[in-house]
Amino acid sequence: MPENSIIIINPDSESRDQIAKTVAGLGHKPMNAGSGKEGLQLILDEEAQIVLCDLNLPDTAGLNILQESLKANPDIAFILITSEGTLDSALQARRLGAYDYLARPFQPGELENAVQRASERTKLLYENRLLKEEIGLRYDFSRIIGKSRPIQEIISLIKKVSLTKSTVLITGESGTGKELVAKAIHYNSRRASKPLVVVNCGAIPENLLESEMFGYRKGAFTGATGNRRGLFEESNGGTLFLDEIGELPLQLQPKILRAIQEEEIRPLGGNESIKLDLRIIVATNKNLEEEVAAGRFREELYYRLNVFNIHIPPLRERPDDIEPLVHHIWRNLCQQNNRTFREISPNAMVMLKNFPWPGNVREIENALEQSLLLLDERKIFLEEEDLPLFLEQRISERKRRFIRDSLGHALSLDEYTKVFIQTFEKDYPDTEIARMLGINPKTLWEKRKKWGLVKKRKVRSAPATQDQSQPVDSPEA
Ligand SMILES: Nc1ncnc2c1ncn2[C@@H]1O[C@H](COP(=O)(O)OP(=O)(O)OP(=O)(O)O)[C@@H](O)[C@H]1O
Ligand SMILES: [Mg+2]
Repeated sequence: MPENSIIIINPDSESRDQIAKTVAGLGHKPMNAGSGKEGLQLILDEEAQIVLCDLNLPDTAGLNILQESLKANPDIAFILITSEGTLDSALQARRLGAYDYLARPFQPGELENAVQRASERTKLLYENRLLKEEIGLRYDFSRIIGKSRPIQEIISLIKKVSLTKSTVLITGESGTGKELVAKAIHYNSRRASKPLVVVNCGAIPENLLESEMFGYRKGAFTGATGNRRGLFEESNGGTLFLDEIGELPLQLQPKILRAIQEEEIRPLGGNESIKLDLRIIVATNKNLEEEVAAGRFREELYYRLNVFNIHIPPLRERPDDIEPLVHHIWRNLCQQNNRTFREISPNAMVMLKNFPWPGNVREIENALEQSLLLLDERKIFLEEEDLPLFLEQRISERKRRFIRDSLGHALSLDEYTKVFIQTFEKDYPDTEIARMLGINPKTLWEKRKKWGLVKKRKVRSAPATQDQSQPVDSPEA
């Protein structure tokens, strides 16, 4: 049980100590006050959740303290204690919002019980508040990380579309954040307190899809021993998120179209239709137009779904998002795994930014999680060598080529330096290149100027795919 600070306001030091002993025995922290004024100050300073206050105080009435404390914090469990138990003052205390009322002398266990109950309630209130904050936070837009233009535009699209009931089609490669966007739409809409039902159309066996979607009535088929609500009905009032819509079997597509268009469904084996009110969000990593052209997706359904399209570009087309994403994911991973936060070294960051991430954000999450698991607790930084090996491959390829190209020829030191700079300027920041060459950054800059090698672009801002002169070993998407 969490320890609470409990304020005890009582002018009589003997009975105050008695109560304090009981409170401490229950694992809480007693804080004593001899007067109302002193007690109120403590309540405000300590942000106390539980108060045990005597009705009769030298400077003011306990009932005044009760009122003042509740004004400061309506969640306080305020327990009034009196030596002349009268029904009148008990009733008045209740009316003013006291949590409990005890008359001296206490029955055995009476004080303990009151404190335990108050502490249970404090815990519940606290958990409730956490839950509310978490829901609010989880879908706060600050959870969608990215400073690139496309991400900023997507955030403003989400804000616009969440206010409507419009069907939304979210497209993008695997791991780009389609589900994250779907949740953001739902939790920022007026339907936020209603269900969000997520259905992965590719994961449900084809022969079960229809009954899963629309539900069934008893006796609809062998094995239908009762009535069952379908996923459409489950999401009534809220949002139905049909993920991997491209996997929806052709033969079921007209039925889904009808349900969406008419906003009503008929369970299998049922006679009556059920009217629904729901918002549909669908997502796919397929190109639905191509699917339509290939005859795998019904044109009418495609047009009905493609009312409002949010397309999330792959990470390689918005490399500026990599750094903030890495920071965000790394911080969360350290926190979730109870590991001390380690800064990411500049070189490691360069390597991360240089990678094309065919598996998009999810692949960054996996790579960093792997790094964290293997990271030596004693290290101060997450360094290049701590990153998964596959990230190294692109740079190693360049290193091999450099050795091949430079060793085959008798190069002067200057020529060697020049080739070195040209080969590695995309992989390392200037400070690191200067360090490897054993020259200072100013000399590097002068050499660059002399050879006309002034940098055109900032490191890493070029999409990796344009770098066609460099053979790239990267895992398959
Ligand atoms: N812009 C972003 N900011 C923060 N986290 C993100 C962002 N984009 C994706 N993520 C995170 O990356 C992971 C993958 O995202 P999500 O599951 O939404 O992708 P998806 O497009 O649905 O992938 P798939 O097609 O594989 O189902 C999630 O943990 C998600 O929170
Ligand atoms: Mg997904």
